Amino acid sequence: MKKSYLAHRVASLKPSGIRKFFDIVATMKDVISLGIGEPDFDTPDPILQAGLASLQRGETHYTSNSGVLALREALSENLQRLYGVSYDPISQLIITVGVSEALYLALTAVLNPGEEVLIPTPCFVAYQPEVILAGGVPVEIPSRFEDNFQPNLQALAEAVTPRTKAILIGYPNNPTGAVASRETLMEVLRIAEKHDLLVISDEIYDRLVYGIPHVCFASLPGAQERTLTLGGFSKDYAMTGWRIGYAAGPAETITGLLRIHQYTIMSAPTTAQAAALEALLNGEPHVQEMIAEYDRRRKLIVSGMNRLGLPTFEPRGAFYAFPKITASGMDEETFAQKLLEEERVAVVPGSAFGIGGEGFVRCSYATAYEKIEEALRRIERFMQRYG
Ligand SMILES: Cc1ncc(COP(=O)(O)O)c(C=O)c1O
Repeated sequence: MKKSYLAHRVASLKPSGIRKFFDIVATMKDVISLGIGEPDFDTPDPILQAGLASLQRGETHYTSNSGVLALREALSENLQRLYGVSYDPISQLIITVGVSEALYLALTAVLNPGEEVLIPTPCFVAYQPEVILAGGVPVEIPSRFEDNFQPNLQALAEAVTPRTKAILIGYPNNPTGAVASRETLMEVLRIAEKHDLLVISDEIYDRLVYGIPHVCFASLPGAQERTLTLGGFSKDYAMTGWRIGYAAGPAETITGLLRIHQYTIMSAPTTAQAAALEALLNGEPHVQEMIAEYDRRRKLIVSGMNRLGLPTFEPRGAFYAFPKITASGMDEETFAQKLLEEERVAVVPGSAFGIGGEGFVRCSYATAYEKIEEALRRIERFMQRYG
């Protein structure tokens, strides 16, 4: 057999449970997908036009490594206005290729080999692999349905060891839709302070909250000096394909991120930076429109699932519902597989998102209202057979 040239840490990575599933979906017809984690909306036209105009002005070159200053200034103002946190656009902000890159930079910049990162799960599928790629050890702290998928504070506190370096949180949460309360986040901060840990807070869904405010972790008293805030444009502004996001934090840490970014990426896409600037300056009405439509779908899917005997906690953020499917008598993998084969509805098994996702499936409502209605009809038929 031919020798593998892959590094052990790469060879040990499992493929994403989501991709595996979508490779199958792509080969099927008439599937209603509740699986996709991206807005079904196209990027709002003024934002698109700003990207085009930038290209037409001949802005086809690299930007500064940290990103266009006007964009960093607008971001800084935005974070100040929305959350009362103050970041210096010169030294405390860096524009990245999505939150994906920001996360990679953050973990690579701070982790020494073998250092542990505590991660409340279920969580975004990239967290554990990115910690491993950065040489660290992910430690999963399962959250519970009974706690409305808030982080399990006792388990979090008990998981701290001398090797723990950071806590990585993501609220509003993918895949549960949970929004962490201010009180819970204050407790997370207390644990971080007690053990002198960094908190990496992925706030990519910050604007997608329904009827409750988003709490920016760095805005908690005393939090900013130990927090890296990661944010982006993919979800709030329907800009996944533009590949643009940012990291904000203490200057010394951001300098570390910048060093890696400089040598691996150079600068985030120039066109996307122009579009992102327009999004911040004039995108608000579009964000509000999308929030209103997501909210309508959220109510439909949550009440629909509960009516069908699939208990679903009310998600207050992002665009996911996370029904418990144990009434079907199946595990989440079998449920997702059979639902796809028999009724052509794609959902993602909750276990793809880490420990605590067993017995649940993720249903994205970033899909048309009518399609969600039809998906619910199909799931109803399915549950009549298996429920
Ligand atoms: C919680 C979370 N963080 C980060 C990302 C990656 O986003 P980006 O497109 O900014 O790289 C996603 C995408 O699904 C996500 O759900």
